[in-house]
Amino acid sequence: MITQRFFKRRRFLQYLIGSGLATTAISWLWTLTKTSRAVDLDDFCLTYPHNSQCDDYLPGVQALDEADNPYQADTILAQADTGDRLLAQGLRKEVYLVIEEEPKIASYAISSVCTHLRCTVNWDQAGQEFVCPCHGSRFDSLGRVNRGPARRSLALVTVVVKENQVRLVDREPRENPRT
Ligand code: FES
Repeated sequence: MITQRFFKRRRFLQYLIGSGLATTAISWLWTLTKTSRAVDLDDFCLTYPHNSQCDDYLPGVQALDEADNPYQADTILAQADTGDRLLAQGLRKEVYLVIEEEPKIASYAISSVCTHLRCTVNWDQAGQEFVCPCHGSRFDSLGRVNRGPARRSLALVTVVVKENQVRLVDREPRENPRT
């Protein structure tokens, strides 16, 4: 009797552990599939933005202003001037949106992370350059080094404007504005 109960309990525990592991594995696989599908669609839709699969797809993450509100493309364009750089959040580190002629929002944004020791650079509108407050590196309006100690340009990320949203995609733009 005691032995029977022992085996029943053991089987029940094995069942519990087995189903727990299965649930964990399924949810892990689900997350992985979802993530890689999003990454694949980002790649695909950046290459073929007019493909029907991309009609309703919004790549990357929404760009947020300094108060954490989503930027609206029409509001930016109504207020910004050509040459402006607007700080945007949403990715791990802040980036600067670039306002080009017409005006329009450029298809790239410039990272705010200094390539010397990773301080956050500030945009100097009057001087039209990025200035690092830590050790004085300066970068031109496209993020190229004007003065060290930094040696590398500021990184670039991709920007997509769709459905009046400004979307940030954490990968280099397809066309390099510096070449
Ligand atoms: S961290 Fe920017 S110059 Fe050193």
